Amino acid sequence: MCGTLRLSDAGREVVLNGWVSKKRNLGGLIFCDLRDRSGIAQIVFSDQVPEEIFEAADSLKSEYVIGVRGTVVERESKNRDLDTGDIEVAVSEFKIYSTADTPPIYVRDDDNVDENLRLKYRYLDLRKPKMQRNLRVRHQVAICARNFFDREGFIEVETPSLIKPTPEGARDYLIPSRVNPGHFYALPQSPQMFKQILMAAGVDRYYQIARCYRDEDLRADRQPEFTQIDMEMSFVEPDDIMELHERFLKELFHDVLGVELTIPFPRLPYDEAMSRYGSDKPDTRFGFELKDLSDLMDGCGFRVFAGALENGGIVSAINITGGAEHFSRKEIDKLQEAVKSYGAKGLPWMKVTADGVTSPIAKFFDEDQLAAILGRMEASDGDLLLFSADRRKVVYDTLGFLRREIAGRLGMLDDSDFRFLWVTDFPLFEYNEEDGRYYAMHHPFTHPADDDVDSILSDPGSARAKAYDIVLNGVEVGGGSIRIHERDLQKKMFEALGLSQEEADEKFGFLLEAFRYGAPPHGGMAYGLDRLVMLMLGESSIREVIAFPKNQNAQCLMSEAPGEISEEQLKELSIRVTAEQE
Ligand code: AMO
Ligand code: AMP
Repeated sequence: MCGTLRLSDAGREVVLNGWVSKKRNLGGLIFCDLRDRSGIAQIVFSDQVPEEIFEAADSLKSEYVIGVRGTVVERESKNRDLDTGDIEVAVSEFKIYSTADTPPIYVRDDDNVDENLRLKYRYLDLRKPKMQRNLRVRHQVAICARNFFDREGFIEVETPSLIKPTPEGARDYLIPSRVNPGHFYALPQSPQMFKQILMAAGVDRYYQIARCYRDEDLRADRQPEFTQIDMEMSFVEPDDIMELHERFLKELFHDVLGVELTIPFPRLPYDEAMSRYGSDKPDTRFGFELKDLSDLMDGCGFRVFAGALENGGIVSAINITGGAEHFSRKEIDKLQEAVKSYGAKGLPWMKVTADGVTSPIAKFFDEDQLAAILGRMEASDGDLLLFSADRRKVVYDTLGFLRREIAGRLGMLDDSDFRFLWVTDFPLFEYNEEDGRYYAMHHPFTHPADDDVDSILSDPGSARAKAYDIVLNGVEVGGGSIRIHERDLQKKMFEALGLSQEEADEKFGFLLEAFRYGAPPHGGMAYGLDRLVMLMLGESSIREVIAFPKNQNAQCLMSEAPGEISEEQLKELSIRVTAEQE
């Protein structure tokens, strides 16, 4: 292969096949960079070769596909930037397999072309060394997962892609059934119910690298179809699952990246994650932790703080240590604009200087109060304090956003620093003010904490779940739970979620039915494979680690999916389209 040749190969005759990435004609010599998936080798045609070969070589252009036979020779002027920079291949014979039109994008890692063009010409984009590496690392992660779970006694079982519509949280993708007019399949949002049924079926340890489909609004770390490393096991408690996954991740990072993770990972109860980091997926590569200052605000003259406390809210702050000089008033104003989307109405701040505190709100506090605030915040000269006073959710969202945004701006986010942690003890339910009802925070099959089993109907708001998320550098890379295997408890859970007996039977009847005939206690977890690989590679979008991703409008720009279908097909499916055709 092109990228593997070294000085020790000098004198060998080799055959190379690949793409022309660059050509230069220096009169008596024609140099080409030849690229295959392993890298680049320089090939050289001298005017010593027969004239027709030399002429054909001169016709080569970028992205022509050629094969060459030649001898590896040591280069006169070595190229230190290239792994193969010590040698070149003196061509004796070659063949053009395929010519190429001028490519619409450069096949180069540093080409900053618009992403839509990259997606339209994905086959050119994927030729780039970085994209080739990303595909390869993704493959290695999948192999490593398969080997690990196989060794631990898990078997891979495929579950169906055409399933019954059973909304799990996101919107379903639907497939009309031709032979059952008016009936639809859904594409699975995850194999959740099937893997639980596999436990009832006595499989005991299941895993699958599974494609999942969710019709959600897309972001950098969300795709309509994505891949999970999904697993489930019987007769376990959360500790068993977390311990297994720590061993898996340690092996994965060792084998694929040569990185040694320290296990066990820290565990953070949900409440603590929120109060210290303002997020249930905290990035712990840096400090700037939230500190609650509510108890220091007695008789505070600042209406905003006092008002927040009167309304049952809190006053908290983060200390951007050494940050005062990096943020001018103007820049703080810009941050203030940014936090409005989290519901914050302003962004009070204090700068600590040698001459005291500079701040638009300092005047509302007496000296003792100021000292107490600085003490709690462990603030000293040069620090910047940012405050938020509001309902708990607004405060957490605001400060959680700021700590990460600012760490990013200050260059504190090191891609090669992998900080894993577990978030545990999630609430079982989430209250939705608009709908006036509770939703399952994870999914409706999640087991309540042992202490809360009896009170999920009487006091749903304080029930905790046997659920855990695995978080890496501020990204939820996976999550799971112990499931309800008791039929009566599952029915109670549906009741708490406001589902009638009929609705529950209609949607989940087959699972309840399966649990009538002896179901083991079980639990599991699933990783977002795309997100995990993205972080391992230091990429900032999962599109960089998916061969053929969709764009923000859920379109494949290369194949132009989704597409229209013919009247005939619609008729066959008993479907009438009412949307305006463009
Ligand atoms: P959950 O819904 O948390 O759990 O999904 C598991 C993991 O999948 C990833 N993920 C996504 N990645 C890319 N694009 C998306 N649209 C997307 N949605 C989710 C996340 C997430 O942590 N059945 C349960 C797992 C279980 O309980 O065992 C489930 O699907 O990294
Ligand atoms: P440059 O244009 O200097 O970047 O050259 C690219 C490569 O072409 C170098 O690494 C050299 O190996 C080769 N090269 C350029 N000029 C000559 C030359 N006159 N003789 C031999 N090799 C050359």
